[in-house]
Amino acid sequence: EWTPQLIQDEVDALKHKPGALLPILHAIQDRFGYIPSEAVSIIAESLQQTRAEIHGVISFYHHFRTSAPGSQTLQICRAEACQSMGGRNLEAHAKARLGVDFHQTTSDREITLEAVYCLGNCACAPSVRIGDRIHGRVTTEKFDRLVDKMTT
Ligand code: FES
Repeated sequence: EWTPQLIQDEVDALKHKPGALLPILHAIQDRFGYIPSEAVSIIAESLQQTRAEIHGVISFYHHFRTSAPGSQTLQICRAEACQSMGGRNLEAHAKARLGVDFHQTTSDREITLEAVYCLGNCACAPSVRIGDRIHGRVTTEKFDRLVDKMTT
């Protein structure tokens, strides 16, 4: 759990480096799982930038999240080999099944859906990763079975 002091500590550790903003944002997300909105004011004040500037950077980089992630992450590969093997259809199915877009978390806070660009499993496209495990040849039926397993 974050506190203003813990966030300030992360900021103070990096703020004197050139180009400190990105390393600070990474450090906060690595430690707390996301960038709480309160962190934006703390960073803005410490770096003497406006909150709008900080927000702009956070929303530019898809990597950053502004709300706590779900307890599990499901990544769908959006790179070429997977797209050519039905990846787009799988993406649409996944979004409908989970009721979220990329970078969002299901309403029960269980699963966060993320895009990824190649999982090194192109021969078995389309691929997804759940936690540390990569699954290949993911049809919509297989996807549903994987999600069922994640939620039981
Ligand atoms: Fe999807 Fe390589 S393109 S695993």
